Amino acid sequence: MTSLATSIGGRTFDNCMMNAAGIRCQSKKDLDALIASNAGAYVTKSATPEKRAGNPSPRMQTLPHGSINSMGLPNNGLEYYLDYVIDDQHNRPGTTNFLSVAGTSLEDNLAMLHEIQDSEYDGFVELNLSCPNVPGKPQVGYDFDRVNTVLDQVFKFYTKPLGVKLPPYFDLVHFDQIAEILNQYPLTFVNSINSIGNALVVDPQTERVAIRPKGGFGGIGGASVKPTALANVRGLALRLKPEIAIVGTGGILNGVDVFEHILCGASMVQIGTQFGYEGTKIFDRLASELREIMNQKGYTNINQFRGKLKTFD
Ligand code: DOR
Repeated sequence: MTSLATSIGGRTFDNCMMNAAGIRCQSKKDLDALIASNAGAYVTKSATPEKRAGNPSPRMQTLPHGSINSMGLPNNGLEYYLDYVIDDQHNRPGTTNFLSVAGTSLEDNLAMLHEIQDSEYDGFVELNLSCPNVPGKPQVGYDFDRVNTVLDQVFKFYTKPLGVKLPPYFDLVHFDQIAEILNQYPLTFVNSINSIGNALVVDPQTERVAIRPKGGFGGIGGASVKPTALANVRGLALRLKPEIAIVGTGGILNGVDVFEHILCGASMVQIGTQFGYEGTKIFDRLASELREIMNQKGYTNINQFRGKLKTFD
């Protein structure tokens, strides 16, 4: 039987596909639907210390090849998600999921991680260093010294499995620089990429931007970001120490896209925009499409091709 199982940081998942933070994972109802689905795990909407309404609407639009959003971190606050994942841990012992946190300051991130450290939660935390949509708050992931400071402060006290969600990088020197910093810390995983931030979509009919916040600037997800996502997964896979697993996110619409992310080095993949369009049944479709590709190629598990992308050299 073809297995889609994967493991990260010593935890195993029977399916290497899950949702990406932000998409259909804000409410308990959304998360219950993910638990009932064939996703290998779920990640919660990035939490801030307190509940947030986010940016004014319209704040997300469908595009011919993806989506643009400037949601601005609407979420129910850390306590809501922490209670949920701890309850789930009691109900389904042995399963691991991802709790996403995205403080808008270093202090908020440290306070949330202290709360998680002191709690019963023993799953993964995904520290989002790449939200492009909070006015006046630049993406931490583009400020390398800041990333170093954040991780230095975090790992002074945090001992549970932790990963970071990164923005896309576009220069190989930046891959070198971020990898050098990340390799200094006991990270369990990195998740690459968040949306391509601060893009602008124009409607020539109305002569207006597509979304209201920040004068129309927002993050792009979906099909059009796949080459950038693959470059980041591959670029990091070649540079990070082997103990840091890679979660690949960006541009996944079908089983071929999943296959390509894994070839580039992803141990797990997350689906955002397309999961938003299709709902939880997407995990059945992607699983059967990936299995079909693996069967055709004679692969029985994903480790047989993970990271094994060929080049001409
Ligand atoms: O594209 C994104 N939108 N990435 C994030 O990290 C947060 C989200 C939002 O809420 O704006």
